[in-house]
Amino acid sequence: MKIKYIVLWSVFAGLATAMLYCYIFYDNCVFFARFVWQPKHTGSVIPTSQTAAMQLIQPMLQKKPPRTILEVGAGTGPVTQEIVKQLHSDDRFDVLELDPVLCDLLREKFKAYTQVVIHCTPVEQWQPAYEYDIIISTVPFSNLTVEQIKPILHQFEQLAKPGAVLSYLEYIWGTELKKLFAQNEQAITLQEKVDLLKNFRDTHKTKTVSVMTNVPPTYVHHIEIGTSVAQAA
Ligand SMILES: C[S@@+](CC[C@H](N)C(=O)[O-])C[C@H]1O[C@@H](n2cnc3c(N)ncnc32)[C@H](O)[C@@H]1O
Repeated sequence: MKIKYIVLWSVFAGLATAMLYCYIFYDNCVFFARFVWQPKHTGSVIPTSQTAAMQLIQPMLQKKPPRTILEVGAGTGPVTQEIVKQLHSDDRFDVLELDPVLCDLLREKFKAYTQVVIHCTPVEQWQPAYEYDIIISTVPFSNLTVEQIKPILHQFEQLAKPGAVLSYLEYIWGTELKKLFAQNEQAITLQEKVDLLKNFRDTHKTKTVSVMTNVPPTYVHHIEIGTSVAQAA
């Protein structure tokens, strides 16, 4: 009988704690729920930290307005939040997200900013009538296959103005940890992915910064996609 009450009270306490957490950190809770619903595309259990978001937007801060800015994979908007703080009235800011639940949340959250347009579209299908100065992506490459990543990288090149900067996240030790648990065939696929992304960075002028105050710690790669290494030399 006593055990039954202990179990009931534990379940109640657990639910109450979860509800309180969701009340205080609503975005984190929604993001976690979307991760449970579609882990492959969401790619992470908690949103990007403010420090990592600030690092992602550094190239935007160095560019004079008016700027055309594209954010890919906005999630609940932690990076979007930092971008809108820096927007000028004549900037143009397109936000892409493929999860309709998150699109609705983003539309509600950023409705006060006239320069911001939320598009519920995968980046592979995005066809704007103009190119971008700044592209910021948190699409979880670590969860995608080489065949899924290739068209996204190609699309980034198509969407970039000459001299544009693409900034994206790559979790530190992400691939190494996955390799530890991978079978032979999977390890080869993982290595192909690492090589594809490294080759992309090597073809363009790239700067990489480590951000340890993110869960998990992450690299932020800034790539001048409008400038090849040969042109930069
Ligand atoms: C790792 S989460 C990052 C969310 C948020 N930007 C953050 O930093 O916390 C990746 C997001 O990218 C979205 N996503 C994944 N693939 C995408 C694609 N091909 N086009 C647009 N968005 C995509 C997912 O739905 C998810 O919300």
